[in-house]
Amino acid sequence: MSDNASSAAAGGQAPPKKPCPKLRYVSYGAEKESPFLPAIRQLISNDLSEPYSIYVYRYFLYQWGHLCFMALDQKDNLIGVIVCKLEPHRGGPMRGYIAMLATRKDYRGHGIATSLVKTAVEKMIAEDADEIALETEVDNIPSLRIYENLGFIRTKRLHRYYLNGNTAYRLILYLKPGIPFKTTFPPDYGMPVSDPAAAQGLIGEDLYARQASQALIEDVHGEQFDITKAAKSDDF
Ligand SMILES: CC(C)(COP(=O)(O)OP(=O)(O)OC[C@H]1O[C@@H](n2cnc3c(N)ncnc32)[C@H](O)[C@@H]1OP(=O)(O)O)[C@@H](O)C(=O)NCCC(=O)NCCS
Repeated sequence: MSDNASSAAAGGQAPPKKPCPKLRYVSYGAEKESPFLPAIRQLISNDLSEPYSIYVYRYFLYQWGHLCFMALDQKDNLIGVIVCKLEPHRGGPMRGYIAMLATRKDYRGHGIATSLVKTAVEKMIAEDADEIALETEVDNIPSLRIYENLGFIRTKRLHRYYLNGNTAYRLILYLKPGIPFKTTFPPDYGMPVSDPAAAQGLIGEDLYARQASQALIEDVHGEQFDITKAAKSDDF
């Protein structure tokens, strides 16, 4: 997720903060074109620089609407939203992916995005996710704080990842011990799969990156750290 407003959020002129209203956190559900879709597009396009078309929203919401959560005030105004998906990653772990996250500027700093991320993570855990990934700009401090507070770790730096040329971190929350060791397979580029050397090279590259992540987890949390337990505990 690339963020037009990250510099503003990270120290520029912030709009006056409103007191936090009582909010409901609800899932988008199984609806296809819900009445909330225009508000979701509006909120996300205000802040994220990637020019997502309606097809991108439909791709996520038609298939994984139950993994999209909205923070609504008492008049059903949209205050925040998170859009996710969950599917096997390269034939390996079941990977949840946080595609978009935004809260209204005048309600930031009240923990709304944190609550949206926790709600989505809990739902993906309930659906047996092995890990949850996302990308965010390297200078998006509020976003990095939210995810790192919840146990996500930086696994890759993606140079000039976004269309605006900005660089991203990939962050991953590993939900089960040993997940980085799970074998993954190269994407099908239409090359003959009979070339074991090429295939092995790609498998190896992905595996090494994941093993490095496992080493990092053990380094940061100690060998006995049980991510699943941490993810379910209140202070997660
Ligand atoms: C990132 C974003 C979703 C955060 O929403 P929010 O509702 O304000 O988030 P929260 O209140 O849950 O938490 C924000 C965290 O960032 C911190 N933070 C907020 N502004 C900050 C700033 N200017 N500098 C440093 N930290 C800041 C908060 O202190 C909090 O961390 P803490 O819990 O350790 O104190 C919101 O700023 C936004 O919509 N930005 C534009 C879109 C975007 O960047 N999306 C994420 C891309 S991956």
